[in-house]
Amino acid sequence: MRKKVIAGNWKMNMLPDAAIRFIDELTPLVKNSENEVVLCVPYTDLFYSLLTAQNTNIKIGAQNMHWEESGAYTGEISGEMLKAIGVEYVIIGHSERRQYFAETDETVNKKIKSAFKYDLKPIVCVGETLEEREAGKAEEIITSQTEKALDGLTNEQVENTIIAYEPIWAIGTGKTATSEDANNAIKAIRNKISNIYGQMVAERVIIQYGGSVKASNAKELFTMSDIDGGLVGGASLKSKEFADIVNYNNS
Ligand code: 13P
Repeated sequence: MRKKVIAGNWKMNMLPDAAIRFIDELTPLVKNSENEVVLCVPYTDLFYSLLTAQNTNIKIGAQNMHWEESGAYTGEISGEMLKAIGVEYVIIGHSERRQYFAETDETVNKKIKSAFKYDLKPIVCVGETLEEREAGKAEEIITSQTEKALDGLTNEQVENTIIAYEPIWAIGTGKTATSEDANNAIKAIRNKISNIYGQMVAERVIIQYGGSVKASNAKELFTMSDIDGGLVGGASLKSKEFADIVNYNNS
């Protein structure tokens, strides 16, 4: 049985005092959850969040990293830097980074390899645009993104990669993929992994859904056969709503 991983992606939101308050509020609400609880916070919240989440079951992640260890890359943060302060997860290749910051399948692949070098767990985002979906190309796009992202990884690394299927048209729009569509897309990703790395590996990879996940639709999505939790944007900014998503299986 794959574990469900429910991760919040705060994007460019939350000042440190709000982050501390959020984690203090969330802690008692999710302490008995059997699901993995992760908060991917802005760099400036990482240290405060790590301290506040100490001795809780809440794990802290970053939202990006550079693939190099150090050097003349003004404004960048490396995997080694994240690891040094105790970060455990890192989102890689979010569609907003691909769209606004020119990330490519190639840089995504380099970042994943670097994340593993520093023992960080990558949450790798793939997803199609509305035009690609309407042109019947969704599966082709997401399986190709997956293949390129994972290129050159060992079977063990692939098993330890979390993939987040986030259809771009569902992000921040209030439009959620139907649970069947999301499950089918995730099955296609799993099949691709099975073809390349074998069925055993594919059965172990955690593949989340992301895109307008809320407390009201989490249960329907996360109880589908292949959806192993979610990457949650807007609804992860309120502690009670996010706790209800984490606790979807108790309602
Ligand atoms: P929303 O949940 O706000 O649609 O964002 C999804 C997302 O991009 C998470 O990474």
